[in-house]
This record gives sequence, C-alpha cells and structure tokens, in this order.
Amino acid sequence: MLLRTVSNLDDLDYYGKKVLMRVDFNVTIGKDNEISEDYRIRMTIPTIEYLTKRGAKLILISHLGRPPNKKEEKEYKEDGKIQPYSTSCKDIDIIKQFSLAPVAKRLSELIEMYNVSFIDDCIGSAVHKEIVQMKKGDIILLENLRFYREEELNDYNFSKELASLADIYVNDAFSVSHRKHASIYGAARFFDKKLAGLNLQKELEYLSMVKDYPIKPFVLVIGGSKIKDKIGALGNLLPKIDKLLVGGAIAYTFLNANGVKTGDSPIDYDHLQWVKKALSTYRNKIFLPIDNIVTSHSFLELKKEESSIKEKKKERKEDNDPSKFDLPFSLAQSPSLLSPSPSSYVSLNKGEIQDGLIGVDIGIETVQQYSSMISQNRTGMIVWIGPMGLFEIGLFRNGTNNIAKSMALAFWRGSKTIIGGGDTLDALKKAEVSELEVTHVSTGGGATLTFLAGDEMPGIEILNKIN
Ligand code: 3PG
Ligand code: MG
Repeated sequence: MLLRTVSNLDDLDYYGKKVLMRVDFNVTIGKDNEISEDYRIRMTIPTIEYLTKRGAKLILISHLGRPPNKKEEKEYKEDGKIQPYSTSCKDIDIIKQFSLAPVAKRLSELIEMYNVSFIDDCIGSAVHKEIVQMKKGDIILLENLRFYREEELNDYNFSKELASLADIYVNDAFSVSHRKHASIYGAARFFDKKLAGLNLQKELEYLSMVKDYPIKPFVLVIGGSKIKDKIGALGNLLPKIDKLLVGGAIAYTFLNANGVKTGDSPIDYDHLQWVKKALSTYRNKIFLPIDNIVTSHSFLELKKEESSIKEKKKERKEDNDPSKFDLPFSLAQSPSLLSPSPSSYVSLNKGEIQDGLIGVDIGIETVQQYSSMISQNRTGMIVWIGPMGLFEIGLFRNGTNNIAKSMALAFWRGSKTIIGGGDTLDALKKAEVSELEVTHVSTGGGATLTFLAGDEMPGIEILNKIN
C-alpha cells in the first residue's frame, strides 16, 4: 500500500503550521497517576520530533480507556449539538480516572527540551484560544477524546470541530486505526494534507511483511484465550506459514477438535468446526501441546483470588491505608489456605486431561519442542501473538517465559522476530526480555489482528483518499 507519510512533505510545509496528530496514549495509569508501561508514548517521539524540528505547532489528540458516557443515545440524537465535556461527562471521578493529564506529564519528562502543555478539553473556544498562542515547536496534548460520545460515533460535527484546530493531519496511532472514530476517520476527511506518522509507517512495514511477503521459514506462535479474535488472521496466514505452534487457552479447543480429552479446560464450541477444518487442511504444519500444566477448579480459583489480593495489596501500599484491604470471605475464614504447597495442586500432564482438571500452561516437553523450533529458525521469521498460559499467575508462567526467552535467542541468532497482541509487553517484562531483543513489537492488540486478517482499517484507508 502506497501511503503518504510525514517525510513526503517538504520541510517548509510544516514551518509555522498547526498539525493535528492522532496518537494512541491509551496506557494503564495507576492510582497514584503512575504510568508503568509507556511504550506507546515513546513510540510517537520520532514523529513528534520530526514535526517540531521543522517548526510545526503540534496538537496531540488521543483517547484513554473506555470512559462510561452517561448521556443517553436519545438525548444525543434530540439535541444534536456537541456539549462541552464538563456537561457531556459530568462525573468528576470519571474525569479524574480517564484524564490524559498524567500522560502529558510523562511526555514532558521524555522530551524535556520541548514545551508540552495540557488542555482539559479537546474542542471548543478554550482550545482555540490556546492554539492561537502557540509558537513554532510547541506541543499541546488535548484531553481524552472519548469524554465525548461523538468521538466513537464518528459524528460529523465533532469531526469538523477537531479538523478546525489545524492545517495538517497526521495519524501515528496504528493501534486504534481499526476504529472508525471521529479522530481517526471523520476528522481526517476534512484535510487535504493527511499523512501517516513514522510509527504508523513502521508498523505497516513490518505487519505487511508478515501478511503479504513473509520471510521463510515462517513460524507463527499463537496463544491467548479468544479464538474468535484470531480466526481472521489465522485464516489469512495459515497458507503462508511453515509451522503454527499453538498454546494458551485456545490450544484446548485445538486438542479437543483433534479428538484429545481436555478435561475441564475451556473449549470454544462456537469455533470448533472452524478449528477442525483448519486441522484437516493444514495437519502437517500445526503443532499442539504434547503435555500441559493442569490444576483443579478450586486451586485455580484460589490462585486467581490470591493474585487479585496481591494487586489490591499493591494499591493498598500506594494508598498507605490498611483499612481499605478486604480479604475475600473464604480466605478470611481460613488464611492458611493462602500458601498451600503448589505441588499437590498443580501437575504436569502428558496426553489426555482427566475430568475435573483444567489446562493452564503448556508443559515442559512442549516448551522444549516449541523453544527449539523458534530458536533454530535462524534465517526465518517468527511471529508471536498471545501468551502460552495464565501467565498473570506465577505458577503458570513457565511456558510464556520460555517462549519470550526463545524469541530473544532467535533474534540474537539473526531471525526476524515480531510480537503483537495486547498482553505482549507485559509478558516480555515478566520474562525479563527487553523490547530491544525483538525486531518489532507492535503497539496494537485488536488492530494488529484486524490488519493481519486483511480486514478494513479505516484510519489507514482514509489517508489514501484524495479530497
Ligand atoms: C487498544 O488499546 O487496543 C487501543 O487503544 C484501542 O482501544 P479500544 O479497544 O478501546 O478501541
Ligand atoms: Mg483494545
């Protein structure tokens, strides 16, 4: 796909011009306003610097999370007008929770030499007033676009309001380009100059390679819990890949489709037929776990509770308020259950899984087999999407950790390695693998799968439309 990018304009075209740049600063913000993972923010810096160095006035727009919008559909349709967010999103707690203000602070720390300011709205007269005062090279970040329901509705008037803020439009938010929202699609339509940012360009280069001209041998490692989200990408890639290594919860549907007993492991019956067909068409290249880590319902519940307690404890430490910590009833009754001996509750299971047991991670032999297929693919390409088990829980993290480490080894041996999907960075971090030990880490979860499926990406398609 031929895409116009920021480097296609002359440097002088940016001088003193207002540039509206859509970024994806949808990061997790802790209770103390701490941002633990700022990868998505860092990935926009090359474009930010490219534009500001050329004298642009940069207006950054983003969403954060999915703030509940209290305004009723009916009310919205009746009044038709766009309300300022103070009336559109009245709840002060929601505003606090979903504000992009902490992101502006982090961005200022990352690019100290530039002046980054934050405005607590994204359209309207207050925003225009600030923009008029901007100097060349200034950067402002506007408040969460999703405080207006008009953003997700791709509303015409809201799009026009956004477009009225600038002369040039740049999309550097690959990870939200599968959404037909006002800031991604509707507003872009109003610009003659609409361009891809450098991060969007990089994402498209790597993911197009995966989708359209993969380096061979091509190994795809797929895990996670939802088959539905991955069917499109799998359908598209299966003819091109040399090996598909399956792990995570989806592996149990594959095993089940293959006639293996999977005990009480989760099975996606809605997609069982699809999996059966894929298995019969591509039998020789699909690899399934030969052994699994299994556990009982009660132990799994206990571990889940324990890990949510750990989260709460972390928050409690941050809050410095011990009274906020409540044990779930069952654990409060018998606190000794908090540290049972794992060996009696978790086992390594080869072959069929008996009733009452649930698969939670790939087993040791599978880890060995998958790891060697990954790390020995020296001249080829490996794409990894989705964890191999319930990696949030330490006991069930061995598979995911080892796949992350094998990916790093493959990278050092010269393979092209690409990692995508929502939990990716978290999985890498837990395995102590640096993002620098991967050829490309995609910022996208849903967007990466949508792109690999060959489905519509409104945010990218609009950049190619000539007004
Ligand atoms: C993401 O985190 O996947 C993107 O920021 C898109 O967010 P959304 O799924 O809420 O549209
Ligand atoms: Mg998402």
